Amino acid sequence: MMNRHILHTLGCIFLFLFALSSCKHGEEEYHSITDKIEAKSKNYHGVTISSEPLIEGIKTIKITEGEHTFLIPERKSQIKQYACTECHSKPLQEMQSNDGAKKAHWDIKLAHADLNTMNCISCHDGDNMDNLKSLTGNTINFNRSYKLCSQCHTNQFEDWKGGAHGKKVAGWAPPRASMTCVNCHNPHQPAFESRWPSVFNTQKVKERE
Ligand code: HEC
Ligand code: HEC
Ligand code: HEC
Ligand code: HEC
Repeated sequence: MMNRHILHTLGCIFLFLFALSSCKHGEEEYHSITDKIEAKSKNYHGVTISSEPLIEGIKTIKITEGEHTFLIPERKSQIKQYACTECHSKPLQEMQSNDGAKKAHWDIKLAHADLNTMNCISCHDGDNMDNLKSLTGNTINFNRSYKLCSQCHTNQFEDWKGGAHGKKVAGWAPPRASMTCVNCHNPHQPAFESRWPSVFNTQKVKERE
């Protein structure tokens, strides 16, 4: 009996190793895990799995960054004050008042990098408020604001491109749709407040019973 168990176990290990090495020789060859997910999704027990029904209600745009092409949610329609040029039709200096009146954007407080490094105009284009701008003054579309963030947060950007930082909008099924930086981080106050982890209260459960 013992021997049969050992044989069985060895058999399993062998099969496992074979499965591992068969990537090279088997019929099913995939360049990447993404390719595999895509291929396997086409006919999964007779149905096709797709993220499409799940992202139907969300307006998305397609982006390509390096070797990654995927969808992210569109932003402009979500920005209450867009289009900015409805008010910002002249240079900022002419609009700014020094009479102590309430600021137009009094509700926006910057708590990001310190003020030597960053002010409103580090990200917003004072000459064309409908766009963001890079550190060197190049135009960045509000729908692609991740390009703004990626200038300084290169590690998170690299992880995000590959799907390791952030979250998919609708699981792993293709086409890939990922949340963009500003879906989770407020660009004006990007850090999350620290909080205690929620605790499962066994006493409350007992009391309810
Ligand atoms: C309803 C009018 C209005 C709209 C819409 C508006 N702004 Fe403004 N904004 C102002 C005024 C007025 C000022 C001048 C600041 C003040 O009140 O002294 C200003 C100032 C600013 C400043 C400089 C802030 C400062 O303290 O100097 C930035 C940056 C800015 N706006 C960005 C935007 C962006 C980006 C949008 C669009 C998403 C936008 N604004 C939409 C009225 C507006
Ligand atoms: C780190 C870059 C950055 C800085 C600095 C910054 N902004 Fe923004 N701001 C953004 C981005 C990105 C958005 C669009 C976010 C989105 O997609 O919802 C935005 C959105 C806005 C909007 C539109 C908000 C709405 O929902 O209607 C206003 C107004 C604005 N910014 C004003 C300001 C002002 C005033 C300052 C300075 C006090 C400032 N921003 C500093 C990146 C920045
Ligand atoms: C000009 C450079 C610059 C740009 C552009 C920029 N950041 Fe930052 N960001 C910083 C710096 C500097 C800090 C402060 C880092 C620290 O305190 O360790 C910071 C802090 C943060 C933090 C908090 C980090 C923490 O330790 O909790 C987040 C999240 C963040 N940024 C996200 C963003 C997002 C999202 C964007 C794009 C909308 C963006 N940043 C654009 C420079 C930048
Ligand atoms: C699905 C939500 C989500 C998206 C999308 C997202 N982040 Fe984050 N990010 C987080 C969370 C959650 C943390 C961890 C916060 C903490 O530990 O306090 C974080 C942390 C960070 C930090 C702090 C350093 C760290 O790694 O803990 C930076 C900087 C940052 N994100 C930048 C970005 C940038 C840039 C993008 C877009 C390229 C992005 N994030 C997209 C949720 C998101």
